[in-house]
Amino acid sequence: MPEMNRRLVLANRPHGMPKESDWRMESAPVSEPEDGKILARALYLSVDPYMRGRIATSKSYAKSVEIGETMVGGGVGRVVASRHPDFQAGDTVESMAWGWQDYAVLDPKITRKLDQRYGSPRDALGLLGLPGLTAYFALLDVGQPNPGETVVVSSASGAVGQVVGQIAKIKGCRTIAVAGDDRKIDWCVRDCGYDAGVNYKTAKDLPAALAAVCPDGIDVYFDNTGGPIHDAVMGLIRLRARIIICGTISNYNRLGEPDMGPRHLRQVLINRARIQGFLLWDFQHRYQEAITQLAAWAKEGRIKYREDVMDGLQNMPRAFLRLLTGENFGKLLVKIADA
Ligand SMILES: NC(=O)c1ccc[n+]([C@@H]2O[C@H](COP(=O)([O-])OP(=O)(O)OC[C@H]3O[C@@H](n4cnc5c(N)ncnc54)[C@H](OP(=O)(O)O)[C@@H]3O)[C@@H](O)[C@H]2O)c1
Repeated sequence: MPEMNRRLVLANRPHGMPKESDWRMESAPVSEPEDGKILARALYLSVDPYMRGRIATSKSYAKSVEIGETMVGGGVGRVVASRHPDFQAGDTVESMAWGWQDYAVLDPKITRKLDQRYGSPRDALGLLGLPGLTAYFALLDVGQPNPGETVVVSSASGAVGQVVGQIAKIKGCRTIAVAGDDRKIDWCVRDCGYDAGVNYKTAKDLPAALAAVCPDGIDVYFDNTGGPIHDAVMGLIRLRARIIICGTISNYNRLGEPDMGPRHLRQVLINRARIQGFLLWDFQHRYQEAITQLAAWAKEGRIKYREDVMDGLQNMPRAFLRLLTGENFGKLLVKIADA
């Protein structure tokens, strides 16, 4: 048994943009897993935008992290001790309930043993994990794209967005990337097959820039951001458009405050459009379907996946801040230990 566990706990509840000092490193003896549980060593931890909501106090779909508690988050790693018959030391596992720490005592009910025929342990946090599965179900089940339709994706080079664009292309759609950096736009077009892109940070007139690349309007909008990009898209929706509300990262530092912008209800009415919220949890019973299909597309070379990997548990807060400022380029992960 290892002896000590390092973990990052929430030290302050941030208002507005968090700071690295809002977390504190602590060390404590590694806990023995009780009956029915497993103890695992982290290899990679995932860094995700939803974590901003978990350190806020506004009402959400999950409980907030309290001051002094281990920061929440998903991870992959190796089992070092098991008191559950389905898991053995050496198994590679993924859990959304890992936390920002070296060692986690995991509940097998919310831990999956990884089958490496589908992909690497890292893939279980990216293409074959929360972001990839979100892209798959939100686009296909909620967005229902048809060949020839125009699909616009915000945060298009991100962990979710890059997969959305490539699936939409596989389904025969015209795809438009919106991102906050020209390098990201170039990569979306060159490597992910997006037909065109708009840099929302440098466009002088965002609605006009979007209209120029969507001359026939927008059929499906995959909304990862809310805010001004959402407003610009809503002025261009077509008859029976589908708007998938996957994330609202533009206001994650102001959760609980009104998010003001133009009202587009008339556009929704005239176009008989549908705006629908999405949460991956609702699709738990179908995860294997998405993993099998995404892994097959990756193997056939039809989907690429870009990661942005940092090193060291101590860098989790810095990595998280990079997500909120747009400095990440691809799925953000932190390597904790060698396999
Ligand atoms: N509903 C669900 O079940 C579910 C599951 C997973 C993820 N999500 C949501 O999906 C979205 C994307 O997540 P991800 O993991 O793929 O993250 P990501 O796109 O890899 O990273 C976040 C990106 O958001 C963009 N961003 C940051 N601040 C912004 C702002 N003020 N306005 C516009 N864009 C901003 C930045 O890209 P730019 O450089 O392009 O600005 C940044 O790189 C998030 O909103 C997340 O909460 C939802």
